[in-house]
Amino acid sequence: MSVLIEKDQLPRHVAIIMDGNGRWAQRRGLSRIEGHKRGKEAVRNIVETSRGIGLSYLTLYAFSSENWQRPPREVRALMGLLNRYLRTELRRMMRYNIRLRAIGDLGRLPATVRKSLLDVIAATQDNTGLTVVLAVSYSAREEIVAAVQTLAAAVQAGRLRPGEIDQQAIEQSLWTADIPAPDLLIRTSGEFRISNFMLWQLAYTELYVTDTLWPDFDRDAFLQALADYQQRDRRFGRTAEQLIETELKRAAR
Ligand code: FPP
Repeated sequence: MSVLIEKDQLPRHVAIIMDGNGRWAQRRGLSRIEGHKRGKEAVRNIVETSRGIGLSYLTLYAFSSENWQRPPREVRALMGLLNRYLRTELRRMMRYNIRLRAIGDLGRLPATVRKSLLDVIAATQDNTGLTVVLAVSYSAREEIVAAVQTLAAAVQAGRLRPGEIDQQAIEQSLWTADIPAPDLLIRTSGEFRISNFMLWQLAYTELYVTDTLWPDFDRDAFLQALADYQQRDRRFGRTAEQLIETELKRAAR
């Protein structure tokens, strides 16, 4: 398969809901945990591809707050995979100038995983290439609740007036402060749901759903999604005529 991607029209930020590890395993008569292991390989692949083509931000929904309700054995396996991923990938992240960040209720993570995560975040904080954002123990509603609490506390302390709470103030209080909103959201395994992911940030994001299960989501499938994105006409609520006019005005300057 060959697809054409325009390098100067890449999305700046791609977010991915990685779904379908369980189904991938089930179809092969394997355990769900085996599916997650293959999912981890897909993560390495997609991070490598993102770096290679020059994306600025890649956000991966690795574990939701709701995922804590899965069978304890599966939760332990996922935490173990995450821990191993962090420990083994640090060298590659340093070599390729990748910066790691995390969003989510990190306090709920087992101490060893939290330490690995915070260690890699600290070690890579000055890297200037691709930023990988891991959403772990993440819930968009919890993120919004936390932002509201931060703002309410600032009002109570007299540092902020209620009327000063605008979109920018909310954005800067979210866990994604300083990270641009995703341009493209990819969801694998065919489900048309947002699943409590980046509810505020996805307001104008282009959505792409593929039937491909996450462990099978390879470089080609990713490039296909980017090519599809590049066909879209992003208007941010304006009309096509207005956009052409804006383009012309900019060209005339
Ligand atoms: C969804 O598949 C996937 C997850 C809940 C976790 C994603 C985890 C990984 C890709 C592996 C480890 C992550 C990192 C960052 C190394 P599912 O189990 O919900 O699949 P199903 O819907 O088919 O059951």
